[in-house]
Amino acid sequence: MSLQEEISRRRTFAIISHPDAGKTTLTEKLLLFGGAIHIAGAVKSNKIKKTATSDWMEIEKQRGISVATSVMGFNYGDYKINILDTPGHQDFAEDTYRTLTAVDSVIIVVDVAKGVEQQTRRLMEVCRMRNTPVIIFVNKLDREGRDPFDILDELESELKIKVRPLSWPINIGAKFKGVYNIFEHSLDLFTPDKQRVSERVEIESVDDPRIDENVGEKDAAKLREDLELIEGVYPEFNVDEYLQGKVAPVFFGSALNTFGVKELLDCFVKIAPAPRPTKTEERVINPDEEGFSGFVFKIHANMDPNHRSCIAFVKICSGKFERNAPYKHVRSGKIMKFAAPTAFMAQKKSIVDEAYPGDIVGIPDTGNFKIGDTLTSGEILHFKGLPSFSPEMFKYIENSDPMKAKQLEKGVQQLMDEGVAQLFVNQFNGRKIIGTVGQLQFEVIQYRLLHEYGAQCRWEPISLYKACWIESDDPEALAAFKKRKFQFMAVDKEGRDVFLADSGYVLQMAQTDFPKIKFHFSSEF
Ligand code: G4P
Repeated sequence: MSLQEEISRRRTFAIISHPDAGKTTLTEKLLLFGGAIHIAGAVKSNKIKKTATSDWMEIEKQRGISVATSVMGFNYGDYKINILDTPGHQDFAEDTYRTLTAVDSVIIVVDVAKGVEQQTRRLMEVCRMRNTPVIIFVNKLDREGRDPFDILDELESELKIKVRPLSWPINIGAKFKGVYNIFEHSLDLFTPDKQRVSERVEIESVDDPRIDENVGEKDAAKLREDLELIEGVYPEFNVDEYLQGKVAPVFFGSALNTFGVKELLDCFVKIAPAPRPTKTEERVINPDEEGFSGFVFKIHANMDPNHRSCIAFVKICSGKFERNAPYKHVRSGKIMKFAAPTAFMAQKKSIVDEAYPGDIVGIPDTGNFKIGDTLTSGEILHFKGLPSFSPEMFKYIENSDPMKAKQLEKGVQQLMDEGVAQLFVNQFNGRKIIGTVGQLQFEVIQYRLLHEYGAQCRWEPISLYKACWIESDDPEALAAFKKRKFQFMAVDKEGRDVFLADSGYVLQMAQTDFPKIKFHFSSEF
């Protein structure tokens, strides 16, 4: 197969949802259709149970599972599908943001009873920043839930994207009879069964009497009414708009009952994008270029202190990746060869000889890689767009064992390179501040510093509201701002200026008083 053919058959995506909406269940059903697994229940949820938030060992066990499920590759017809898993626990949201930089599209799962929940909203913001195409799957139609029109309105207003239903439910909950597939003009009848696929009735049009025969006259009439309304309110589905991230097609179903999943998958492979060009600081890279390039979007540490090794996950952006070929590690300038790159197919991790754009390879690493690093056939390229967002929680990190200062320094450095949390150094007093998305990350850091580096740290409180990256076209204004706020100025690990606002009010005042300063809540601007 030519490079171009390999590229066009690849679909690399992530499923995102608020915990419990059904991401794990949907992933598993997709793997079933791809023949990657044979029985339901084979995919272990990598979500960290809410009850276990303080139980660190439990988390560690569960993190072990998540290495295996980080990337799930399988073939479906002529397509090669790569699903990138994202951690369910919101304290690891930063990890999810980065994973979203390595996918070409996204499927969002929403619970029909709960609608759009907080985490989905935030993840969608990241998709919007990058114009990532999204398909929405409204799940759990077998349970009582909200009116589908209300759900569509909520999706539009909360996720700030136009929607277009491509399937439509006939009733919901106990009376749920199935969906009308607008995309393929068929009627899919619901049989509550976890293993079996639903029954499909091919129909000519919405006026086909077979609809009445199968769902009864009353429901058929309601369906026709709903469909008429849909056609009146929502413009025809336009694939280009979807590909530009301007409209999200919506499917309805029940992942647990394997209902509506195959329809979703069939539509997905047809419309979802193959690997797309990637932006670098130097130029735009097309996937079909001869030269290999890829970037590290995730580093997974081995939690076993006796084997301090990591796996760096590299997304291939262009060319063909080959085992043992010499590649340039752009940040260090070193030429490296990888003897044991792994790929992830049908839930098995195995050494691969070659891989193509859209694929993810895992490279065993002993501390050479940082998140965002680039590998190429020789060209100097820096990939753009691995965003850091303002953390939610901040603490000073202090050394508890004066004999181990060096170890602490090194440990903090490496954990930050891995993307576990963010480090800011206060310019006024030189103290180090760690910013995280949730409490759990502080526990992870403390535990890992001790077990992997033999260093002990303690946390001291600091009351901060947000970290904002600042810039200005006017150097004098920037200097004046930094002078005025010198106690609250810090640098991030790239040396960029960050303003640490201690309250929403202070931030608002600063924005009013310094109109020439731009305040950014993400490092990508
Ligand atoms: P997540 O990865 O998004 O966190 O969600 P997950 O798939 O683990 O699903 C959360 C719960 O919702 C699970 O139940 C799952 O069985 C259930 N579920 C998923 N899809 C459907 C559906 O279409 N209909 C119904 N009725 N339930 C669904 P659980 O009791 O929390 O876990 P388990 O013991 O069943 O694994």
